[in-house]
Parts: sequence; C-alpha cells; structure tokens
Amino acid sequence: MTEPLVLGIETSCDETGVGIVRGHTLLADTVASSVDLHARFGGVVPEVASRAHLEAMTPTIERALAEAGVALSDLDAIAVTAGPGLAGALMVGVAAAKAYALALGKPLYGVNHLAAHVAVDQLEHGPLPKPCVSLLVSGGHSSLLLVPDVARDVRSLGSTVDDAAGEAFDKVARVLDLGFPGGPLIDRRAREGDPRSIAFPRGKLDDGTYDFSFSGLKSAVARWVEARERSGHPVPIADVAASFQEAVVDVLTRKAIAVCKDNGVDHLQIGGGVAANSRLRELAATRCEKAGIHLRVPRPGLCTDNGAMVAALGAELVSANLDDSRLDIPADSSLPVTTIHL
Ligand code: KG4
Ligand code: ZN
Repeated sequence: MTEPLVLGIETSCDETGVGIVRGHTLLADTVASSVDLHARFGGVVPEVASRAHLEAMTPTIERALAEAGVALSDLDAIAVTAGPGLAGALMVGVAAAKAYALALGKPLYGVNHLAAHVAVDQLEHGPLPKPCVSLLVSGGHSSLLLVPDVARDVRSLGSTVDDAAGEAFDKVARVLDLGFPGGPLIDRRAREGDPRSIAFPRGKLDDGTYDFSFSGLKSAVARWVEARERSGHPVPIADVAASFQEAVVDVLTRKAIAVCKDNGVDHLQIGGGVAANSRLRELAATRCEKAGIHLRVPRPGLCTDNGAMVAALGAELVSANLDDSRLDIPADSSLPVTTIHL
C-alpha cells in the first residue's frame, strides 16, 4: 500500500478536527471550534469542551467525508489524538475513533498530538528531511525536537520550564484586555506597534540550554502595565504587544537556529498554534536565510489544531508498516513527546 487513505480525529483541546489524507495529499480538513463558548471565561473550560466535541463529532466526520468525496468503507485506517491534552476532551475523540475502527474493521492508530503538529508539514512541503529540527510552539507546549523520523524517532532537546509560548500570549492578552485566545489578537495589535519601544526580558537566552522560560516575561509585562496605569498615562497597547511578541520570537528563533547548527541539521520545521504568528514566521525566515537553514512552516490553518495533522501522522505510520493500536488504548493527557503512537 503506497498511498494510504486515512481519517484523523483531533479533540485534545477546544477544536473538533477531522481530516482525511491520501499519503501526503490533503483531501479534507474540517474543524468545529468551541472557542466562542469559552471566550467569556477567558480560557478553555474542559467540561464545556468535552460536551462540544460530543455534539460536533458525527457531523464533522460527515462533512469531512463529503469534502473528500470518499466513503467510510474506502478508508485504510482511522487515526486519533491519544494525548497529550485535556483528559475528557481526548476521551471523546478516542472513543469515537475506536467505535469507527471496530465497526468498519479498520486499523486504529492512537497518535501523539505533538508529533502530528510536525507531520502535518508534509501535506504542504512533501516528505520531511531526515533528520530535521522542529520548533513546536503551542498553547500547551514549547519544545525543540530533533526528528530523525517522525514515524519512529522524535527526541526532545529542550522545552519550556514554565509557561508555553502560546500560554504567555494568552496571559499577556488578558493583561491587555484584548480577549481570548490571545495569540492572534496580539499578533494583530503588534503590527501597529514598535517592537523596540520596551525592553522586555529574554528568559534563558544565553544559558547554554535549549530550554525556554516565559513566565518572567509575562510578569514583566504585567508589572510594566500596572506601573503605567498607576502613573495615570494610557497604556500603549500596540507597543506593549509588539515588544512582548518580539521578546518571545527572538528567543524562539535564536534557540531553534542554535539547535540546528549544534547538531549539523540544515532543515528547521516550525509547528503548533504559535507558528501561525506573523512575526515568528518573518523573523524565522530572515534568520534561517542568514544561517543557510531551510525553513518549513505550514500555512497558519494547519499550524493551529486540526484533524489533518492527525491523519498525516496516521498515514506516515501506515506507510512505515508500524503496528496499529489496540482497541483498549487509553487517552493519555500527559503522553510524552517521544511516544509517537500507542
Ligand atoms: O496548537 P494549538 O492550536 O493548540 C494547542 O495544542 O495548544 O495552539 C493554540 C495556541 C494558543 O495559545 C493561541 O493563542 C496560539 O496558539 N496562537 C497564536 C497565534 N495563533 C494561535 N499565538 C501567536 N500568534 C498567533 N497568530
Ligand atoms: Zn496543538
């Protein structure tokens, strides 16, 4: 089987994503988001997300099949995010995938959400070079990975010691009263601001590790805004957003390029929701070009959570002839990044 037809289900957070791929070709990518239900709480409410997944699951699968023009019986495998993520939300997707796999007599692949953020790049740019370095930046994770083979071997070289990059965007957006989720809102406001106007700290920049820290930066922004409010002056929202964003993407790109150079790898892939950030994409492109590193970043819609990424990793596992998952696999909310599938 050279080009497996795989349906992927993603429910690790607030997006019910269903994607269908044939090998590296994307056939359907449907997403039902419950983000509006969480906005008034300023963050994702796990029980609300689980209930929304349950309601969206069957219609989203039907939409994906219609979009791809395939029938359930045509599928070669069902892939699903088995972790990491919100336990109850993951469970809805895993239960649905098991039910489809059992009813259809198709193999099930319970996959790692983080490796799926890497694998999705193949739908846009073809096979990943072996090895490549991946900078994975999302709401829950910020990691630097060495990826000799996305189906078999993903190694963690560094990660955040406190907040994830996306989490920092979301928290700073709250400080600035911009709304939720904060990443896209800061990205937009920052375009009118001066990134050099405020010198926010770059945590762990020169500490000789590949780890990140964003909680000091988040506190520095909060303290700066409080001091400004106390002084009676208006808060220059765009300048704060731009300076904060610059601090994050400066550290992310510097460390990612250091990993490439130190390991003699000349391909950098960036994935996860924060990879949708326009300044991260721009600065990474400039710095990679200067360093002679080939950069691969999927289009923004494939960076944020979706089902196509799960299908993409599933197809990779099928093509690599790896064993499918047992029907009693758990949903593992803290699945380590090195476990590519269960
Ligand atoms: O990968 P993702 O969709 O979900 C997780 O696996 O966490 O990432 C969501 C995160 C959120 O924190 C969101 O604020 C951030 O990605 N994000 C962005 C942008 N778009 C989404 N951060 C910065 N700039 C953006 N344009
Ligand atoms: Zn994600």
